Amino acid sequence: MSTEKEKELAAKAAIKYIEDGMTIGLGTGSTAAHMITALAEEVAKGLNIVGIPSSESTKKLALANGIPLTDFANISAIDINIDGTDEFDPYLQLIKGGGGALLREKILAFNSKLNIIIADCHKQVSRLGKFKLPIETIPFATPILIKKLRIMNLHPILREKDNSPFITDEGNYILDLDITHISNVAQLENTLKQLPGIVETGLFLDIADIVIIGRGDTTEVFK
Ligand code: 5RP
Repeated sequence: MSTEKEKELAAKAAIKYIEDGMTIGLGTGSTAAHMITALAEEVAKGLNIVGIPSSESTKKLALANGIPLTDFANISAIDINIDGTDEFDPYLQLIKGGGGALLREKILAFNSKLNIIIADCHKQVSRLGKFKLPIETIPFATPILIKKLRIMNLHPILREKDNSPFITDEGNYILDLDITHISNVAQLENTLKQLPGIVETGLFLDIADIVIIGRGDTTEVFK
């Protein structure tokens, strides 16, 4: 069974939690794209929901698939947020941001009653950190942050696209950090959030309620 099929299986399983009248957080990435396709099929059949997208790319995809959208001016909470992940550990702690959408993704997740994470089985790890930790930084502060993060042994790498810095939907940069030697990720999160210029990190701690993965031709659910 291909990784793509596993993502699709997880996405379809997550859709089953959705009920008529709900506001749904729409994640970003290839797994979330499967969820958007599956959700669009239900909307076409008459399911009455509104989505709130976590990125400009997801917004485009949702609109192209006929999913009605809203924003935070019109709602006070999201019923269910469904998003992918780059890693999850046995405690359902996550590293996200591989697609560079971590800031809006975390805002959606924080304002959701239920967070469902969908993934292929390769995202399951015993300890976070094999995937480099993305952090979103203000361009003005990024050069000094790189110096500080180097001293902290986090080996920051400025993410690039077409030989220029990758620019997020909020106009910021992404630094990818090596956290393989870090055992206390909660402490790291606190330390990073105290550095002016770091807008958000890709550590999603105590946020996921349910993780659904595709493994082979079945799904597994972690709570
Ligand atoms: C984007 C993300 C994605 O959820 C994460 O990168 C997983 O992507 P994919 O489903 O394509 O493997 O955090 O910022």
